Amino acid sequence: MTAAAPRVRGEAPGLFAPLDLQLAPGRITCLLGASGVGKSTLLRLLAGLPTGVSFRGRVDTWPAALMGQDPGLFPWLTVGRNVALGARLRGERADPARTRHLIEAVGLAGLEDRLPGQLSGGQRQRVALARTLAEDRPLVLLDEPFSALDARLRLMIGDMAARLLDGRTVLVVTHDPAEAARLGDRIAVMTPAGLADHPAPPGRVPRRHDAADVLAAQAALTGRLLA
Ligand SMILES: Nc1ncnc2c1ncn2[C@@H]1O[C@H](COP(=O)(O)OP(=O)(O)OP(=O)(O)O)[C@@H](O)[C@H]1O
Ligand SMILES: [Mg+2]
Repeated sequence: MTAAAPRVRGEAPGLFAPLDLQLAPGRITCLLGASGVGKSTLLRLLAGLPTGVSFRGRVDTWPAALMGQDPGLFPWLTVGRNVALGARLRGERADPARTRHLIEAVGLAGLEDRLPGQLSGGQRQRVALARTLAEDRPLVLLDEPFSALDARLRLMIGDMAARLLDGRTVLVVTHDPAEAARLGDRIAVMTPAGLADHPAPPGRVPRRHDAADVLAAQAALTGRLLA
């Protein structure tokens, strides 16, 4: 692993002004901002993928596991095979116990043999999350990973993901201020003018959703997004 933390410095003329997104190693950074402002673009830059946007600047990054905004499952592969896909693509044997554990962890036990077309949108999203968690990478990039989940699953699976990712360097794009207040060691808000930090509540993540300082941070963040 290189010494420098994953970082994007630069601008996309017409989209966002010069910004500097530096991820805190071993921590979860939550990135919020209006639709179309360029959050997925920053994630794709860190993943080393094409963006379709003209970006001028510099990207320092690490080997990354990316969960895109679109689940991107292979429709002809079962849930189990989609989750184990990374290992198979690298010509390695997937660890069946780990695959099973991750499928259970995202609440899909019993659905291993279904095809993506036989799942709900939220179930498909959870397969994509399990597939990303199966990758053993120092940098994990999650683009709206819980957006299709109901409130209860959002809490349970968000907490589970934060625990499983403990020690990794993680960037989570979200539109949900409650999620950022619970899961963000750092919270960054993106606007066309650039990036600004928003104070995260104290305490280790995942934080309790109903803790007073988490609720206060959620309210302050909501106010900021509405401004
Ligand atoms: N492949 C592409 N070709 C051309 N323009 C693109 C492409 N991908 C994204 N864009 C444009 O770049 C801008 C930023 O897109 P991006 O996907 O980064 O936004 P976002 O902040 O993730 O939004 P959302 O919250 O809706 O997911 C948008 O205006 C979008 O239309
Ligand atoms: Mg996006």
